[in-house]
Amino acid sequence: MITELLNPTPEAIRRAAELIRAGEVVGFPTETVYGLGADGLNPAAVEKIFEAKGRPGDNPLILHIAEVPELLPLIAGEPGAAARKLMDAHWPGPLTLIFPKSALVPDRATAGLPTVAVRMPSHPVARQLIRLAGAPVAAPSANRSGRPSPTTAADVLEDMDGRIPLILDGGPCEVGLESTVVDLTGPVPRVLRPGFVTAAQIRAAAGASELDPAVLAPLPEGERPRSPGMKYRHYAPAGEVTAFRGPGAVGEIIRRYDGADRSLILALEGNVPRYGNRRVLSLGKDESAMAAALFRALREADRLGAEQILCECVEPEGVGLAVMNRLLRAAGFRVVDT
Ligand code: TXA
Ligand code: MG
Repeated sequence: MITELLNPTPEAIRRAAELIRAGEVVGFPTETVYGLGADGLNPAAVEKIFEAKGRPGDNPLILHIAEVPELLPLIAGEPGAAARKLMDAHWPGPLTLIFPKSALVPDRATAGLPTVAVRMPSHPVARQLIRLAGAPVAAPSANRSGRPSPTTAADVLEDMDGRIPLILDGGPCEVGLESTVVDLTGPVPRVLRPGFVTAAQIRAAAGASELDPAVLAPLPEGERPRSPGMKYRHYAPAGEVTAFRGPGAVGEIIRRYDGADRSLILALEGNVPRYGNRRVLSLGKDESAMAAALFRALREADRLGAEQILCECVEPEGVGLAVMNRLLRAAGFRVVDT
């Protein structure tokens, strides 16, 4: 299969929507990361997503909608008060909500779970694509399973060349990390995956919220995560990532740096000069910049052939919580406290 890369002209979006209607899988931009979209109500099409990604079959997908009323046929019963408030405050946008699923949603899309994850993205190309596809679009991040999520069309091509017919190139993603995932099926809204919509914003909109313990810690052996995606090695480049926390991080990174062109440092912009002429990539000036830069930097590390990736941490608060959730997984929870 030849993979076409197209600018998202109205004609190209129409082509992509036709492919989705025909049961194919296409790459498309969202405000968070690029997605790999297929008709979410067609089990054979959904199956192709799992094949293209090499994704474990027990990891459920998010269904993407273009307008709020499209939610109703996908869920059992009515959205509750917390759901309504969260949708009012953050849809369209980088927030995924989990509801009990209706019979319309195929088991293949939810990996057999009785719940369904739904998101209404804000990216205009994504929304036009969903509208024209005429169905909820099932879409995981468009990376091969285990790799960092793609934030540019070139990243998607790197992982999906020859596996899907078309990628819409919408330029770099604004947020750079996947959506916040909130489970609404329990007594209190629970953040399963932190994102650009922060835990404090969830609490402000919904009145209450709790953080799943898997957000910042490895799961105890044998324990089943509420979000199946949390248990896999994730977001990882080929090189070994180590995260450095605390006031001595810069010094410790310098001490461990291997000059034989094997190490790469990922640092906040303000710290870059402290590394002198060592090989260093800037992650930007704050948490939000780091969110947008982290996956790109991890992929760049592979292109540079780095064997050892030494990365600074940020405080796990606000958007920083999402950054640390991804970084700790990319590092396989290899953290050095200084
Ligand atoms: O920003 C995003 O959410 C991107 C863009 C493309 O929209 N999509 C994305 O999808 O990140 P994916 O498949 O890479 O991650 C979805 C996460 C996984 O961790 C999955 O386990 C979890 O959501 N998930 C999906 N359905 C679920 C459900 N019913 N219950 C619990 N977790 C669920
Ligand atoms: Mg993913």
